[in-house]
Amino acid sequence: MVLEKKYIEKISLSHRKKFAQFFTPETIADLMSDWLIGNKKLKTVLEPAFGLGVFSRNLLKKKPNLNIKGFDIDETIFNEAQSFFAINSNVSLNLEDYMFNDWSNEYDGIICNPPYFKFHDYDNKSILKEIENRLNFKFNGFTNLYTLFLLKSIYQLAPNGRMAYIIPSEFLNSDYGKLVKEYLVKTNTLRHLFVIDFKENVFDDALTTASILLLAKDNNDREINISTIKSKSDLKKLENYINSYPKLKGEFVYKPTDLDPNIKWRKYYQVQKSDKYKNLVPFSKYAKVVRGIATGANDYFTFRPSKAKKYSIQSDNLLPCICRAKDVKSVFFTMDDFKQLEENDEPVFLFDALKSKNEAVEKYIRKGIEEGINEKYLTKSRKIWYSLENRPPAPIWVSVFNRNGLKFIRNEAGISNLTTFHCVYLKQSDLFSKINPDLLFAYLLTDIAKKIFSDNRREYGNGLKKFEPNDLNKAQMLNLSLLNDETTNQVLSLYKAYRKELKQVYIEQINEIFEKEYSQPESHTHLQFAKTIAQQPKIANDHVLSNAINRMKNNVRKRNNAYKALGES
Ligand SMILES: C[S@@+](CC[C@H](N)C(=O)[O-])C[C@H]1O[C@@H](n2cnc3c(N)ncnc32)[C@H](O)[C@@H]1O
Repeated sequence: MVLEKKYIEKISLSHRKKFAQFFTPETIADLMSDWLIGNKKLKTVLEPAFGLGVFSRNLLKKKPNLNIKGFDIDETIFNEAQSFFAINSNVSLNLEDYMFNDWSNEYDGIICNPPYFKFHDYDNKSILKEIENRLNFKFNGFTNLYTLFLLKSIYQLAPNGRMAYIIPSEFLNSDYGKLVKEYLVKTNTLRHLFVIDFKENVFDDALTTASILLLAKDNNDREINISTIKSKSDLKKLENYINSYPKLKGEFVYKPTDLDPNIKWRKYYQVQKSDKYKNLVPFSKYAKVVRGIATGANDYFTFRPSKAKKYSIQSDNLLPCICRAKDVKSVFFTMDDFKQLEENDEPVFLFDALKSKNEAVEKYIRKGIEEGINEKYLTKSRKIWYSLENRPPAPIWVSVFNRNGLKFIRNEAGISNLTTFHCVYLKQSDLFSKINPDLLFAYLLTDIAKKIFSDNRREYGNGLKKFEPNDLNKAQMLNLSLLNDETTNQVLSLYKAYRKELKQVYIEQINEIFEKEYSQPESHTHLQFAKTIAQQPKIANDHVLSNAINRMKNNVRKRNNAYKALGES
């Protein structure tokens, strides 16, 4: 990594970010290139996002006469790489966009850490069109660029070729990943998926979550292995698998037809938290989550009191609204909190021109037109460009990005919110009534609720967790209508005490009540997981089943010991 270190020292972070230049740690590059070298007939290799060629350097150490072709789009890094590889006549580097070039060539080995760009950070329309035409497969416009690199490389892999990719795990559990998973399953090329989830930062480069895909166009295509890597020592799993391919199995083994591309694949490699509880219903039975108001131009539409004064905008045309997550400090957002923000001259209003018009309002609208606000992506698509989205204030908000799990807020002030929060509206849960909002909110504050929701989260490469409104709508929750009146009242009075004193201990007590009412015996949880694995993938993995059985045996032993101890005392 000497080359990369030197490069990082002299090239600015903004330049590296612009080209998504995040370098693969040497240990990982070494393992990934071993996978390619395992193909005894390996002669031609493609490195589509070359950077400084960490993979090629490693491969050439192991097999010096390989023919390698590399692509990079950034002239700066290309020149560095070019001068390093100048002595290798069998390495040809191209300063070109990989997505639009080289479609007709095939390779025995392809190895890559592709650029991660969200769909709006690259020319997604023309790239998608190119790839859809070539692969004859329809993809989703919201796809991240790294998945398109992956698909193109599969297309370019020669018969008996091998391919190794390191990419964010996000596609496994996100909507845009569905079609990618479908393509992986359809082409029968995925041999082993390693899901990396390091608990601590073991590499300098802040690699905490990612996945390594080992693919091949060979005949060992009857099963797909999945393994998890939680520590540096778990990387041994990769090494062992590669060294004994195709004999050794992964932690989980599936037939391609057993993997459903339409669901989050987390289910195939993690015990689901919700399995621990019985009587679950979809969250959408009780509530509906919708994203907050998007203005399309926050600077223009948001108002502080001083700005309102400057432009003579009256309260009639100002919609009270929470615009930034940091303005909400407590679990309960009250009218007093709102007034305090207003007093501090924070931006807590939206320009609501439709309510009434006067000269000042007209003038501010004209100002918007002069600044081109009416031509922005969202404003342009509206009938009246300055009209606000129709979102009544929601009784509950939920924060969009979370490092420490979900955060629910009770909106006692009854004001609107921008997209930093999603709105939670209560639904008619049975024929006659909505759920008591206090009961629902008390539940949402508990650890159980967060644990169950976490089955449905999305994860980003940098460890950030995110819930889109539909992730929450489709998530599960305890069926609160099964609680009897006495328990309901107990929860409500603890909640009341919490509202008054804000002491966490009350929420912990509520959590205990739910644990008691809804937990399944632990042995059941593991049995359930084992059953899921056994039923869905049909090839039941001995390793998983025997683990689950051992855990069950352990639990029974612990329980018997506890009974014995009780009997003896
Ligand atoms: C994540 S880095 C990986 C670098 C190196 N292979 C490694 O693993 O350390 C991705 C590289 O792809 C390059 N890149 C970005 N967009 C590209 C494109 N459309 N075609 C080819 N290379 C591209 C970037 O300049 C960057 O060097």
